[in-house]
Amino acid sequence: MDLIRIDDFNVAIDPETNFWSIFDEEDMPEEVFDLFDRIRDRLLEKMKKYRFEVEFKTVYLNPTEKCNACCPYCYIPPETRGRGMEMDYKTLRDILERVETLSVENVIFHGAEPLTVRDLIFKAMNEFDYNFGIQTNGFLLTEEDADFLIDRDVNVGLSFDSHHREIEDLLRGNGHYEKITSLLDIFDGYRRLNVITTINKLNYEHLPGIVDFLAGKIEAVLMNPVRGTSRGGRELRPDPVKSSKYFIEAVNRAINHTKDGNRIVIGDFANIMLGIVAPYSRVLQCDISPCGAGRRFVSICPDGVYPCGEFIGMNEFRVPLSEIENLYSHFDSVRNRTVERIGECRDCTFRNMCGNPCPAEIYSEHGTMFEKSYYCEFYKNMIEHAFRVIRRGDTESVIRLKSLKKMYELTV
Ligand SMILES: C[S@@+](CC[C@H](N)C(=O)[O-])C[C@H]1O[C@@H](n2cnc3c(N)ncnc32)[C@H](O)[C@@H]1O
Ligand code: SF4
Ligand code: SF4
Repeated sequence: MDLIRIDDFNVAIDPETNFWSIFDEEDMPEEVFDLFDRIRDRLLEKMKKYRFEVEFKTVYLNPTEKCNACCPYCYIPPETRGRGMEMDYKTLRDILERVETLSVENVIFHGAEPLTVRDLIFKAMNEFDYNFGIQTNGFLLTEEDADFLIDRDVNVGLSFDSHHREIEDLLRGNGHYEKITSLLDIFDGYRRLNVITTINKLNYEHLPGIVDFLAGKIEAVLMNPVRGTSRGGRELRPDPVKSSKYFIEAVNRAINHTKDGNRIVIGDFANIMLGIVAPYSRVLQCDISPCGAGRRFVSICPDGVYPCGEFIGMNEFRVPLSEIENLYSHFDSVRNRTVERIGECRDCTFRNMCGNPCPAEIYSEHGTMFEKSYYCEFYKNMIEHAFRVIRRGDTESVIRLKSLKKMYELTV
């Protein structure tokens, strides 16, 4: 067990299982040691399954390389967006039929900008039975489209980087602030609507304000640090320590709004908390190693299949569309990328709470996936704050404990 001190309390953590105990005394209480001894082997089994199981539950489906915007940090290379390859409906249909053999349940239409091929996507949503989602910049989304998506229970993600109009329009294109605010009105509290904020140099100080702005309008916001997958992304990366302070303030604001009756959760933080409270049930797969790329999900594009969207344009990771049925035998290089193989991460107490993301970012920066993340300190601060939130009794304001209780009882 590793022992760490956060503010005025102690935490003992077994990094192999993420078993932990918070205590004030000098030593961890004897009965907790006994419990740990009793269940460690079972927890190890669960962690192993969670980390290494290959099961494609989700497909990110990119029917087009075209985009109607030009965000400076976009991980899709400008040459790809400029080339603009697209799927025709026959190809899309064929893919949706074939991924059924992989036991895929969720299909998320993703970028470049999926609404540039709206008719194709809506036709597929009418024809197939998957849990559908769409991630969009929203520019082309009309009131009629919103009705269609709401009617079919589609998960809708809107990109939105700042409640300051000038920064939003600078990052996401002229008129974007206006468009997103009108879409938030149109969707009017639709429960499957969420927002992605890409944290960067120009907006990290806005994170708490963004939470205030969104509270009461949506219940979930993802706040993802910009990945240095592209040069533009690297140039816009914020200072990891400074940005973590604003992120933590945003988390605290979200908790306060939730307590005041306007539930709003920052998905990335909730996932880190899940990594502590129910480590083998984490939904997002970025903070575990190997990550979910090419293991729990893939990104299917007009030019082939990539382990994750962040790898788009890196030909060494691309598999031809003809291999869809054989994806289990591809992507070994990403699936073998474990924290145990990475210098400082190997002995880090938080290694199975952080996972050292993101392999695509690290690879494009260093030419290898086996370096430590630029965001290491950001993650450390976030995990420490998660323990603070647990310690002060605010867990329920971030994750719904009731639904986890059954799993918890089974584990213990
Ligand atoms: C690539 S876009 C595709 C869908 C659509 N065009 C959109 O912008 O929502 C998906 C999400 O990835 C985010 N994104 C783009 N480049 C990124 C990067 N380098 N690091 C992290 N997120 C990034 C965008 O802000 C957006 O929220
Ligand atoms: S982030 Fe989305 S909207 Fe922006 S350039 Fe990339 S694909 Fe287009
Ligand atoms: S990136 Fe940092 S916090 Fe994450 S596992 Fe590596 S050393 Fe630990």
